[in-house]
Amino acid sequence: MSSKKYFEKVADQWDQMREGFFTDKVREVAVAKAGVEAGKLAADIGAGTGFITEELVKNEVKVIAVDQSEAMLEEMKRKFDRFDTIEYRTGNFNHLPLQDESVDYSFGNMYLHHVDVPLVAIEEMVRVLKPGGKVVITDMDEHEFEFLRKEQHDRWLGFKREDVERWFKEAGLKNVSVDCVGEECCGESEEGSEKANISLFVAYGEKP
Ligand SMILES: C[S@@+](CC[C@H](N)C(=O)[O-])C[C@H]1O[C@@H](n2cnc3c(N)ncnc32)[C@H](O)[C@@H]1O
Repeated sequence: MSSKKYFEKVADQWDQMREGFFTDKVREVAVAKAGVEAGKLAADIGAGTGFITEELVKNEVKVIAVDQSEAMLEEMKRKFDRFDTIEYRTGNFNHLPLQDESVDYSFGNMYLHHVDVPLVAIEEMVRVLKPGGKVVITDMDEHEFEFLRKEQHDRWLGFKREDVERWFKEAGLKNVSVDCVGEECCGESEEGSEKANISLFVAYGEKP
């Protein structure tokens, strides 16, 4: 099964699944890192059912949500139907459906470990940013829990922070930092034999 098919299948259960993996602290840290301002425009890439978007709209930030999965975006639309400040677009990591220099912030939570080429995904998140815009990516540190490839279609078993920092710099970002979220991502194998506790990082950079 492809990652796209996997997320189409779990879309209506994702919020419940996610609550078992990580808490609201992740989005609070991510959104605080960018120091968002009301009225600005953010892209939530790999938005899923809108975990990051929920924190953004609380801060009166407008959002364009992008995901490969229509089912995830449909679920998100249902949840946020009272908001007219959110747009929904289907698209892939290597060709985001956004114009160059069109948004103030690019967020991606638990998205990077699903894409084929992380550097290309980061370059796309930078391409769509206005000068002075900010990228914030929250994801897992490198780990050895192979079952996540099979059961959750993870493409990468997390990342080394030094690789993420290098990719941010190669993508042209300045004031780059990669820090601890102070939270672990937890998961249990369906076969019941393994439990994963994986620390999370928050990576930040600014477009010159
Ligand atoms: C683990 S979920 C995280 C969803 C959401 N950001 C959250 O924190 O709950 C990963 C999301 O990234 C999307 N995704 C995976 N690969 C993608 C790709 N190549 N292009 C666009 N979206 C992708 C999936 O469809 C899924 O909704």
